[in-house]
Amino acid sequence: MRKMHHSIDYLAYDSEESLPLESRELLNRAVLALDNAYAPYSRFQVSAAVRLENGHIHCGTNQENAAYPSGMCAERTALYFVGSEYPGIKVKEILVVARKEGTSQLLPACPCGGCRQVMQETEDRQGEPISVIFKLESSGFIKLDSVADTLPFRFDPASLA
Ligand code: THU
Repeated sequence: MRKMHHSIDYLAYDSEESLPLESRELLNRAVLALDNAYAPYSRFQVSAAVRLENGHIHCGTNQENAAYPSGMCAERTALYFVGSEYPGIKVKEILVVARKEGTSQLLPACPCGGCRQVMQETEDRQGEPISVIFKLESSGFIKLDSVADTLPFRFDPASLA
């Protein structure tokens, strides 16, 4: 038996204003898109904004369903849309925000494991890292340079071989 260790580096931003300009643009777009979340069951609205290599920004929001498992998270809505409409165009950055319906305060929300798995496969397919930004605590955002940093152990497509 060996004891192993894993650590990651990430940047912590104490305020929204201290985020890099490009990320603040993503933040503004993601917040605007929160209104498009369809979350009548959880009342928890999530929005993910992605910036593509051509500079375009696209947002996805969570879309729930009365048959609960049929709903879809914001991150996957965004990435599947981009993959469908803009195949081959690389994703540079993804930023995630959340709030309770009827409120304006952004809440901490880390992409769920399923979304990280999908984000990871997008990163692998394009062969270039995707920066990931989300709110970790009530005050600030964090930025990781790569999806892989958020998912050190994952289901690897190579397992299917
Ligand atoms: N949700 C997301 O959109 N992204 C995540 O990474 C975690 C959870 C949504 C799913 C559901 O509509 C609501 O948040 C409550 O779980």
